[in-house]
Amino acid sequence: MENTKHFDKKVYIETMGCQMNKSDTERILGMLSHFGYEQTEDAKNADLLIVNTCSIRQLSADKAYSLVGVWGKWKQEEHKKELEGKPFRDIKVAFCGCVAQQDKEKLLKRFPYVDLVFGTNNVYELPDLIRRINTGERVCATNETPKKFTEGEEEAKYEIKRAKSLNAWIPIMEGCNNFCTYCIVPFTRGRERSRKPSEIIDEAKKAIKEGFKEITLLGQNVDSYGKTLDKDKDYDGRDVTLANLLRDLNKIDGKFRIRFVTSYPTDITDDLIHAVKECDKVCEFFHIPMQSGNSKVLKEMNRRYNREEYGEIVKKIRDTFEDVAITSDFIAGFPGETEEEFLDTMSAIDEFELDYSNTAAYSPRVKTKAAKWTDRFIDEDTKFERLARLNEKNRQACLKSNEKCIGKIFEILVESFEEKEGKIILAGRARNNKIVHFEGEKNLVGEFVNVKITGASTWHLRGEICSEAGIR
Ligand code: SAH
Ligand code: SF4
Ligand code: F3S
Repeated sequence: MENTKHFDKKVYIETMGCQMNKSDTERILGMLSHFGYEQTEDAKNADLLIVNTCSIRQLSADKAYSLVGVWGKWKQEEHKKELEGKPFRDIKVAFCGCVAQQDKEKLLKRFPYVDLVFGTNNVYELPDLIRRINTGERVCATNETPKKFTEGEEEAKYEIKRAKSLNAWIPIMEGCNNFCTYCIVPFTRGRERSRKPSEIIDEAKKAIKEGFKEITLLGQNVDSYGKTLDKDKDYDGRDVTLANLLRDLNKIDGKFRIRFVTSYPTDITDDLIHAVKECDKVCEFFHIPMQSGNSKVLKEMNRRYNREEYGEIVKKIRDTFEDVAITSDFIAGFPGETEEEFLDTMSAIDEFELDYSNTAAYSPRVKTKAAKWTDRFIDEDTKFERLARLNEKNRQACLKSNEKCIGKIFEILVESFEEKEGKIILAGRARNNKIVHFEGEKNLVGEFVNVKITGASTWHLRGEICSEAGIR
């Protein structure tokens, strides 16, 4: 493959979804940079406009539709200039990600100015797709069967244009077989499949060599990694599991951190907890969405655990580490959820001392089972009133969790700085993922420093640099 590195076009990409979606953006930009597209932060200046969409809730999909609406107007203005014989720009608009995978050709019909729709399984066909739209074709490429994700050959050819940060996202598995009754992901990301360990390890080594200080392993259910691989053919005879992969990544030379998201509660094995404990680079942080604190609702959600089983997993983790953060996701107003059942979610945050939770009001998604239970839908006012209470509970839980950190010493990876009243205030993350602000020098950005926690607010901690070693 020829690498022109001669940028004669500009691409603007708006990323609307989860970390996997962000990681796709980095791969898309890497591929485009190989055939003349340079990234711009200024959409008005771009030749190619891409929206990388999320379909998890209706609100996220609507955001994408309205953005391409704006871009369509720009295109019409340019077209008018063309008709008037004035200089004009030939803007191309592309729609990708989870909404693209779901809506397919319908998008080309609905938005006549969209040139390209490509799904989550078609990223690696981009060179050909871009060539086709540049000759005036309108194209929709949304394969149902995942093609190149696990094959690696195509992927290995292209560099990844990672966002400017200290963290490198590395997808290790994609897709989901769980079919929770509210969730669109199995329809937009397909069935579960894992990347080979050797590919992941190579990608991690490369990122560390390039100066990244943290790698985050990504997957819709990252802890079910390896189930589609063969231990003899794809590994060295050991079981292909997240635990073993963490052990291998931990052996890479250099000072860096390893994280992994998102974990499905009952896929967290004892071996995984041991691996996190044993590997000095792996951070003591578990994101384990519970979704509801009520066992009946969990059953209706088709989650494979009840309240007690979730509690046992949390206890096992808390008993293993001196300092660990456990975070969760919750849905308010699932079809049929009673006030009492909702109160079980509120009490779960307290009982399991969850450090932080993402919250959302239930949003019906086409094709999913729960979307058909219209007779049990909770009215919007109740749903959003529950969400407000859940958010308040989460705020209190975060503050409580942060206050417990006062007096502890954490190792912080410094991510950024801000000048405030003549002082340099650094911001970084502890191993448990908490954000810490403290005074220091600008040149500490990208370094690891020990910080004693002296104060706590709801969303961050304050501290002072100290010479003692932090908790690990
Ligand atoms: N694989 C992860 C979750 C991925 S989706 C897991 O199993 O936990 C990210 C989050 O979006 C979910 O945890 C859920 O809380 C939320 N979500 C998914 N579908 C939703 C819907 N239809 N309405 C509201 N929130 C939803
Ligand atoms: Fe969605 Fe459930 Fe799969 Fe998570 S486990 S991605 S919530 S279907
Ligand atoms: Fe959204 Fe797709 Fe991620 S639906 S949450 S961008 S997998």
